[in-house]
Amino acid sequence: MSTLGIIGSGNIGAAIARLAVSAGIPVVLSNSRGPQTLTGLVSELGPLASAGSIQQAAEAGEVVVLSVPLAAHTAIPAALLKGKAVLDTTNYYPFRDGRVAELDEERLTTSELVLQHFQGASLTKAFSNILAHHIPQLSRPAGALDRTALPVAGDDVGAKATVMNLVEQLGFDAVDAGTLADTWRFEPETTAYTRLYVADPLTPDARLLHAPAAPVPSRRLSEALKRAVPVRVAARSF
Ligand SMILES: NC(=O)c1ccc[n+]([C@@H]2O[C@H](COP(=O)([O-])OP(=O)(O)OC[C@H]3O[C@@H](n4cnc5c(N)ncnc54)[C@H](OP(=O)(O)O)[C@@H]3O)[C@@H](O)[C@H]2O)c1
Repeated sequence: MSTLGIIGSGNIGAAIARLAVSAGIPVVLSNSRGPQTLTGLVSELGPLASAGSIQQAAEAGEVVVLSVPLAAHTAIPAALLKGKAVLDTTNYYPFRDGRVAELDEERLTTSELVLQHFQGASLTKAFSNILAHHIPQLSRPAGALDRTALPVAGDDVGAKATVMNLVEQLGFDAVDAGTLADTWRFEPETTAYTRLYVADPLTPDARLLHAPAAPVPSRRLSEALKRAVPVRVAARSF
C-alpha cells in the first residue's frame, strides 16, 4: 500500500491511521475543520502521518478511508472519490443522522446509499462492525494465533481484494462478506455487529463503550454472518 487517505479522522479514522503507520503505511488525514486541527494527532502518529484538505487526502490515497457520520457524506464532493478504492466505515445511527427512508424501509444497505452519492467510486465496507476502542486491543501481527477477523464486503472484486489485503496488513484476518447488498448482515443490532467482539457477553449496553474486547477468529465471524437475520431498521432507536 503506497498511501492511505483518510476522510474523517475521529474515533475510527484515527484508530485506522494508528494501525497504518505502525504497519509502515503513510497516511494523509483530513476532517471537516481543516488540517490545522489535526496537528496533535499528526505529531502523535509520527513522520508517516500528515494532514491535508479533504481533496489532498482523496488524491493521496491508493485507498481512501471514508469515516464520517452518515449525515455528513453528501457534504463531500463525489468527484473527489471518482475512480478511487474507498474503504467505507459508515453506519446509520438514526439518533445522530436523522431518519433516512431508504434505510428505514430496508430498500438499501447503508453502503449502497453512500455509493449512490459517490458514483464511480469502488466502495468496500470494513471496520464498521467493531467499536473504535476495540481496534487497537485486537490488532495482531500476521501469523498470531489469536488474530481477530473482520468482514469485508464490496461489489468491485479488485477493490475488495485491495481492502482485504489492507485489513490483513492492519492486523486482522479479512473475511469476504459478499457484496454491498449483503452488508445488512453486519449492520447495527445483527449477530455480527460490535457485541461479537466484547469479551463479556453479559455487558450491559451502558458499559459497552468501556468493555474490554476478546479475539474473534474467522470461523466465529463467518458463523455470526451466516446466522444474521434482517434487523427491522425502522424500529432501531440508536
Ligand atoms: N465509533 C465507533 O465505534 C464506530 C464503529 C463502527 C463504525 N462507526 C462509523 O464510522 C463513522 C465514523 O465514526 P466515528 O465514531 O469515528 O465518528 P467521529 O469520532 O464523530 O468522527 C467523525 C469524523 O468525521 C469528520 N467529518 C464530519 N463531517 C465531515 C465532512 N463534511 N467532511 C469531512 N470530514 C467530516 C469529523 O471531522 P470534524 O471533527 O472536523 O467535524 C471527524 O473527524 C460513522 O459513520 C460511524 O457510524 C463508528
